[in-house]
Amino acid sequence: MSPAAIEVRDLGFDYHGEPVLEGLGFEIQTGERVGLVGPNGAGKTTLLLLLDGLLRGRGEVRVLGTLLADRSLPWIRARLGLVFADPQDQLFMPTLLDDAAFGPLNMGLSREAARERARDALERMRLAGLAERSPHQLSHGEQRRAAMAAVLSMQPAIWLLDEPAANLDPQGRSELIELLRELPTLLLASHDLDLVLQVCERCLVLDGGQLVAQGPTRELLSDESLMTAHRLEVPLRLALERRQP
Ligand SMILES: Nc1ncnc2c1ncn2[C@@H]1O[C@H](COP(=O)(O)OP(=O)(O)OP(=O)(O)O)[C@@H](O)[C@H]1O
Ligand SMILES: [Mg+2]
Repeated sequence: MSPAAIEVRDLGFDYHGEPVLEGLGFEIQTGERVGLVGPNGAGKTTLLLLLDGLLRGRGEVRVLGTLLADRSLPWIRARLGLVFADPQDQLFMPTLLDDAAFGPLNMGLSREAARERARDALERMRLAGLAERSPHQLSHGEQRRAAMAAVLSMQPAIWLLDEPAANLDPQGRSELIELLRELPTLLLASHDLDLVLQVCERCLVLDGGQLVAQGPTRELLSDESLMTAHRLEVPLRLALERRQP
């Protein structure tokens, strides 16, 4: 059997001695799209940063069977694509084209091949016309799409996404949902539970730094008492379905 895309065992993390995550364990198989939901401060962003090795905690993280450690970090980073909650954490080059080419260049592609990948990714995110623009001269939604392009150009095997639809207009959100549904393996943290429902077959519910539930998205998100207990809500389309059987 091939190793899990992501395997987490007894993962814990403290910020300045304050425990933030404790005893987390789960697996994500290749080809699975998994939602990560929970109230503000639950530890979702912290978990994504731990999986990408930007934070280091207790316990074990394995990516495609490889234990995350200093030595394996470059190998792991070439396979994981993290879309940050704040696009300004992602975008740091003078132009969008440079930003989208940075990842592929870093992975060893030639300048021409990297720019080709970058142009394709910008096109995919409807940003071809802004390729020479500085990220600072964009609207929030455009920055969000540029951050997606910067990860798309790396063609990662596994995506980690932190609130990817924030600030997108309704059509931009629908286009993003289409795109996310085409990505093979992902872990997606969001408060947009309708988006999670449309993209993810399975869900993890995190609260107070602990995994409080996991299972099929539809089942979990339609469980009103589970949702209420963790400051979440049954998405409207599920609530309506229940009223009109
Ligand atoms: N840099 C930091 N220093 C100290 N504490 C932090 C830091 N970043 C986050 N925390 C704390 O860690 C906990 C988890 O935060 P985290 O950002 O992972 O939550 P989250 O689930 O992503 O929340 P949100 O839904 O608001 O994005 C919170 O209690 C938060 O206050
Ligand atoms: Mg967060």
